[in-house]
Amino acid sequence: MSTIIPEIKKRSDYQQPDFLINHVDLEFTLAETSTKVICVSQVTRNGLHNRPLILDGEGIELLSVHINGIEVSNYQQTENSLTIDTDSNEFELRIVNIINPKDNSSLEGLYLSAGAYCTQCEAEGFRKITYFLDRPDVLAKYDVTIIADKKNFPFLLSNGNKVDSGELPDSMHWVKWSDPFNKPCYLFALVAGDFDLLEDQFVTQSGRTIALELFVDKGMLSRGQHALDSLKKAMRWDETEFGLEYDLDIYMIVAVDFFNMGAMENKGLNVFNSKFVLADAQTATDEDYFNIEAVIAHEYFHNWTGNRVTCRDWFQLSLKEGLTVFRDQQFSADMSSPIVNRIQNVRIIRERQFAEDASTMSHPIRPDEVIEMNNFYTVTVYDKGAEVIRMLFTLLGKTGFLAGIKLYFKRFDGQAVTCDDFVQAMQDANDKDLSQFRRWYSQSGTPKVVVTDSYDPSAKTYQITFEQQHSATFDQNEKQDLVIPIQFSLLNDKLELIKLGDAKQQQKMLELHDSKQSLEFKNIDSKPIPSLLHGFSAPVKLDYPYSQQQLGNVMLGSPDEFARWDAGQKLFSDCIHDLAGKTQQQQKDSINQTVAMFEPIIEATDISLALKAEILTLPSFETLFQQMDTVDIDGLNQSRKLLFKALAQKFQNNWLTQYSKFEKQPYAYQANQVEQRKMRNLALKYLTLSGQHDVEQLLIEQFNGADNMTDSLAVLGAAQLGDLDLFEKLMLLFEQKWHNDPLVLDKWFALHANTERPDILARISMLMGHSQFTINNPNRVRALIGTFSFFNVSGFHNIDGSGYKFVADYLIKLNEVNPQIAARIITPLIQWQKVDKVRQQLMQHQLMRIGDTKGLSNDLFEKISKSLP
Ligand code: TRP
Ligand code: ZN
Repeated sequence: MSTIIPEIKKRSDYQQPDFLINHVDLEFTLAETSTKVICVSQVTRNGLHNRPLILDGEGIELLSVHINGIEVSNYQQTENSLTIDTDSNEFELRIVNIINPKDNSSLEGLYLSAGAYCTQCEAEGFRKITYFLDRPDVLAKYDVTIIADKKNFPFLLSNGNKVDSGELPDSMHWVKWSDPFNKPCYLFALVAGDFDLLEDQFVTQSGRTIALELFVDKGMLSRGQHALDSLKKAMRWDETEFGLEYDLDIYMIVAVDFFNMGAMENKGLNVFNSKFVLADAQTATDEDYFNIEAVIAHEYFHNWTGNRVTCRDWFQLSLKEGLTVFRDQQFSADMSSPIVNRIQNVRIIRERQFAEDASTMSHPIRPDEVIEMNNFYTVTVYDKGAEVIRMLFTLLGKTGFLAGIKLYFKRFDGQAVTCDDFVQAMQDANDKDLSQFRRWYSQSGTPKVVVTDSYDPSAKTYQITFEQQHSATFDQNEKQDLVIPIQFSLLNDKLELIKLGDAKQQQKMLELHDSKQSLEFKNIDSKPIPSLLHGFSAPVKLDYPYSQQQLGNVMLGSPDEFARWDAGQKLFSDCIHDLAGKTQQQQKDSINQTVAMFEPIIEATDISLALKAEILTLPSFETLFQQMDTVDIDGLNQSRKLLFKALAQKFQNNWLTQYSKFEKQPYAYQANQVEQRKMRNLALKYLTLSGQHDVEQLLIEQFNGADNMTDSLAVLGAAQLGDLDLFEKLMLLFEQKWHNDPLVLDKWFALHANTERPDILARISMLMGHSQFTINNPNRVRALIGTFSFFNVSGFHNIDGSGYKFVADYLIKLNEVNPQIAARIITPLIQWQKVDKVRQQLMQHQLMRIGDTKGLSNDLFEKISKSLP
């Protein structure tokens, strides 16, 4: 490994800033390779001390420093700081510097995205723009002037309100913006370019009119409507559900093609990955429509949970992200199907968050140590963080939760605060002791809840015992008991609900806080079947010795839809895991027996079509992987396929019926259509696997007749799954049609990358030469390289090590271009903990190779150094 060891920052080392900045005047003169930045800050010393002012800065060419109008030269510069010693306690600091947006391929700070200037400052990108106190607890008001060529950059945007503008010689122009709200520099944004503009309005509950402006690439106007509609829904929802109203007079969203993540909540000026803005029926799938609505809402909700109240330091990231993800999940549930949403949330936890916690990157939702902050925008901080908020919601009830939120804003509006501050507000508003609950913030790892029970027929009593178990994680040896809300109910053998307690409650919530707790129920006529962890009431692994019959009963009879789905998933996964080491005949019998359990689901009339489709979908390879301690990669892959095929064949008639029963309507993103397409395209997959004789005909008909991307893509997915020759033919046609549309082509790149074929690496190498592919665009890299490493099980984990080497080679290149993306894509390579010894060594060998790279980024250094023994 490289020998320069970067600094590890610790949460416990937090100290208040030595200086505060309360006003910033920024002026940008935009030019591709030398943009001039003038930053005038009003600085005050914070407390009594004589330490110098130390500003953050990276890759900046400093021209001059003035204090109170007088040039100073006795400053010291290092690679990432500027130290200025002064006796003044209050002064104006003027810094003039040059930056180079054109050569900025990291997509942090100011960069060019397909000819437009844009910024990305979270977490620590502002320091690439100018020398500053780049930390979230320094809050200031910003006035921003942008100067640029008028022809190429007719739109000059920044946060807040446009207050002035004018013309300059040489066809230049300028615009001045003023943001009346205090903000940390990570919420600063600047955009300059030529766009199509979609305009609308929103009238708030108090009657204020907000201008809504959506900026998209030229020619993309018709693809912006869904995003704008989503924004209005989110604004209304936050008013009615949380009582929160928008605060500025204008809300702008800009879609850009080069972007490291999904979107960014800059005050009044969100910047989005165009993938999460642009949609029409021809180019976007139902899933895209869903994601756009969710991400638009997420960024909008940040205006209160993130911007009005922000984080004191980056260790507190979950303060805004966990809470905002929880809010966007609630919103999405209200906009569409709550159960399908919940299933989707749980899949992310089980496939990705459990994997993270089982890996060398394990960390609590509030991390204790960080080298590169960008590495901690994780499924743990975001999605497990949202689960922790959800548990508070469950424990306090909606009314109690909202009372806590209200107190939180009353106490902390305009401030930069901690996760503890948030929990304290919840505690005080509800008069409930949350001290043990707080351990969810400091403890990493996936808890296991082991449930046992016994029934005494003579006394007619039923006892059920819950025990929480915690094992050491890579980052933490000592674990403590947590507060785990477990919602459950009991069924009798006629699948009727047993009333629990005197409140005639049918669902009960146990607050498991001891390591072991038992409940006893009286007057129970026969041994009940427990339906456990309703709604996934806690992010844990649950262990109860269910028989197959009992699972079947929960799947058919639980009052909780999530528990029904989960029981079905467990039937499938038990079957898959049990196939290992069996004879062919035994495998056949066992598969048949499991498949038969689903017959009643096919017939069921008491569940929605959407839920039915979810129940009939096998658990993903990634979910199955996380259920095991050590994984036989090839065996697991094969077993899953066996069951897949059996389901296809056994219910062939049903798939045919499901496929043909819905009347075709012109495409609309609308709940009943979405669920019909979901079921129909699931049926198409199964039909393809079943060997149905005329399936190629079906596929071609659907491909040619589709009026929307969901149905076109489903054909490609099915043909790929069925390993049909048709797949290659259709992929060619698809490419001919869409080669000028990068967002659509990403779907095509991803399909290629996920194909099982012996020459997959040659195929991917060839695609890297495609005219639309560029290492500089994260969407392309994620689609091709990311999909291969995350999802192409047979290719990535090829026992000859070629998949690992291929990814490593690519990451060594990507390290130079965009370390943030490289560090995301390395994830599957550092998750070697559960695979066989041969593969572990191959993976570690590649990690070492990357580790030896000259100029290794902090991003990769942190992940690799943790992951090597
Ligand atoms: N705060 C953003 C969100 O959750 C995510 C974000 C963090 C981000 N760092 C980023 C987005 C860098 C783009 C680039 O919505
Ligand atoms: Zn966010």
